[in-house]
Amino acid sequence: MPKFTSHIFVCCNRREPGNSRGCCNPDGSEALRNCFKAELKLRNLGPLVRANKSGCLDQCELGPTVVIYPQEIWYGGVKLEDVPRIIEETIIAGRVLEDLRIPDEALNRNKMDGRPSS
Ligand code: FES
Repeated sequence: MPKFTSHIFVCCNRREPGNSRGCCNPDGSEALRNCFKAELKLRNLGPLVRANKSGCLDQCELGPTVVIYPQEIWYGGVKLEDVPRIIEETIIAGRVLEDLRIPDEALNRNKMDGRPSS
């Protein structure tokens, strides 16, 4: 069986309303992950690309958060309407979407005060 080419980890963590960190899945619907799954199925990429449900990726303030491995591409602020172009541009064409990319220097930083998150 061929290797997977990408795993798309989609944060589906849910926190109570009012939590200071927010969360990527406030209504608990996992709509973003379901959208990735549907788009992969539509393009018959399912055998080699997986959209996995993830717990908190610890980039909550930058979410909704998605990370793609093994390419190690972090996207933040991902909306449902971004999913088709992530599949087309990043998964299929291998291009990073700069408008969604979380820069390395922003990873593991608390957006509120700039300190490394714990
Ligand atoms: S809740 Fe999604 S990164 Fe923390």
